[in-house]
Amino acid sequence: MTSDLDQHLTRHLAEATEAVAAVVDLDDLRALDAELLGKASVVIEARRGLAAMDAEQRKDAGRRLNEVRAALEHLLAERRSTLEAEARAVTLEAERLDLTELDTGRRLGHRHVVTQTWERLEDIFVGMGFTVAEGPEIEDEWHNFGALNFPPDHPARDMYDTLYVDHGEPGSTLLRTHTSPVQIRVMESTEPPIYSIMPGRVFRSDTADATHMPVFHQIEGLVVDRGITFGDMAGTMDAFTKAYFGREFTSRLRPSYFPFTEPSAEFDILRDDGSWLELAGCGMVHPSVLQAGGLDPEIWSGFAFGFGLDRLALMRHGIDDLRELFRNDHRFLSQF
Ligand code: PHE
Repeated sequence: MTSDLDQHLTRHLAEATEAVAAVVDLDDLRALDAELLGKASVVIEARRGLAAMDAEQRKDAGRRLNEVRAALEHLLAERRSTLEAEARAVTLEAERLDLTELDTGRRLGHRHVVTQTWERLEDIFVGMGFTVAEGPEIEDEWHNFGALNFPPDHPARDMYDTLYVDHGEPGSTLLRTHTSPVQIRVMESTEPPIYSIMPGRVFRSDTADATHMPVFHQIEGLVVDRGITFGDMAGTMDAFTKAYFGREFTSRLRPSYFPFTEPSAEFDILRDDGSWLELAGCGMVHPSVLQAGGLDPEIWSGFAFGFGLDRLALMRHGIDDLRELFRNDHRFLSQF
């Protein structure tokens, strides 16, 4: 082999190495491959020159040419796999799905703060030995008023802004204004002793403001047994509020009036700002109400209370506007 050819091939390999390294695109690499190994390539040209050489030179030159061609093939193959890996990475990045973004739209929901309060109250009272009863939201006049000792046209009916339902005799069917009608239904269907709570939704034609809603929730309590006293009632309400709010709280009972209890009281709790919030009405079940429920007031006595369930939720969570509970603003509700 002539040293000319040797130098020529060495230079060619050096130039080819640089050219291969400079290619950044698979199409360009294919073109370079044809240029370096194809019919018009330096290697093929040189091979053609072998015929003119003597046997010894041809053998050396032939070996050298094979080495150079193998080196070129190796260079090209390496560069191809690098470029292919890069192209794959680009495609993967472009087609990537951000699964964490998807997640924000698919958070698990949770129970509404009113439902949580409802269930918590049931748990506390069940723990105190009470059973849970429910009644209809659409009531008859008798259960909502008559049986609860509101005679027809009694002014105490004006305490409730009643929503009537267009069904039967005018004024005979209504959306219950309180959960107290369930007291009557429990007495009608249960033999004393009765220790029951009756949570539920109630309706009044009130204008919504920070402390009133036309639809809200109450939890009624009814105890009927032998020898029940006002002291039992005060003790029960105190035990309940301590269980619900914790031991540090101040409450008071204040004389009040309800046709279905005698004596009657209002149960208030002290707020942080020093004002009192009315949480419940309560009292000793009126003998006429026991009678309306089919019970003999000479044998049985009892007490009843009705808490505003939503107000219990407000107090516990330090919410200052009742309307927040019903706006269904996810950002607000997700805090509880
Ligand atoms: N039902 C009364 C109200 O809604 C509350 C209450 C219940 C009062 C039980 C006394 C006894 O205002």
